[in-house]
Amino acid sequence: MKLILLGPPGSGKGTVAEKLEKEFGWFHLSAGAVLREEVEKKTSLGKEIKKYIDKGNLVPDQLVTEIVKMELQGKNDFILDGFPRTVQQAEAMRGVKVDTILHLDLSENAAIKRFAGRRKCPKGHGYHLIYLPPKKKGKCDVDGLPLSRRVDDEPKVVKERFKIYHRQTAPVAEYYKKKKKLIMVDANGTPEEVYQRVKKKLKK
Ligand code: AP5
Repeated sequence: MKLILLGPPGSGKGTVAEKLEKEFGWFHLSAGAVLREEVEKKTSLGKEIKKYIDKGNLVPDQLVTEIVKMELQGKNDFILDGFPRTVQQAEAMRGVKVDTILHLDLSENAAIKRFAGRRKCPKGHGYHLIYLPPKKKGKCDVDGLPLSRRVDDEPKVVKERFKIYHRQTAPVAEYYKKKKKLIMVDANGTPEEVYQRVKKKLKK
């Protein structure tokens, strides 16, 4: 399976991808997580990337595309979450065979409600204080590492991320729609309900 997950910030791409990875063993590549890992390393590249992420802006196309293509090398099954995010990135993916493109459909208001409770561990496993709580308070179920809030989940930055989404990422959905490759999934409901809907679409 070679799958692309599209959708606005907070629509649940990471949550669905984690579940698919756990059940089917497909490689989950979150563009945001890979970029945040580079930031954590405090390399000069990481410092450059941080400037974009902290403001809610997109990291330059060429840089992200190179990183993603490198990470995908030799992978037969993958879930791409958060890439492509611009039409230029989608064009750069043309040589890569993709089976399905799912778009998680959620209103901006519903997505914003999810940000306040989001917590992440340093390795990228995601939780929500109400909808997807960890078993032990403040600790990741998978690796026991402490959970924290993302800098770009601050309301001001979230607003900017949505602006960018409408301007630069929504056209990617249109791009795939014109190619008749896009499958819409209603992303309202509990994480499990959305996951079951995704699996149904994939079975079809
Ligand atoms: P990235 O990390 O990709 O952020 P995003 O796309 O804005 O997506 P999110 O991670 O915020 O949301 P999600 O859809 O994965 O939802 P989640 O499952 O976490 O990118 C961050 C930054 O990196 C970008 O702003 C940019 O700077 C840079 N970047 C990344 N990719 C790039 C690219 N291709 N080009 C250039 N720059 C790039 O869910 C959200 C919360 O809701 C969680 O707490 C979750 O537990 C909860 N939740 C999930 N599903 C449900 C549900 N059904 N009901 C209730 N709660 C739910």
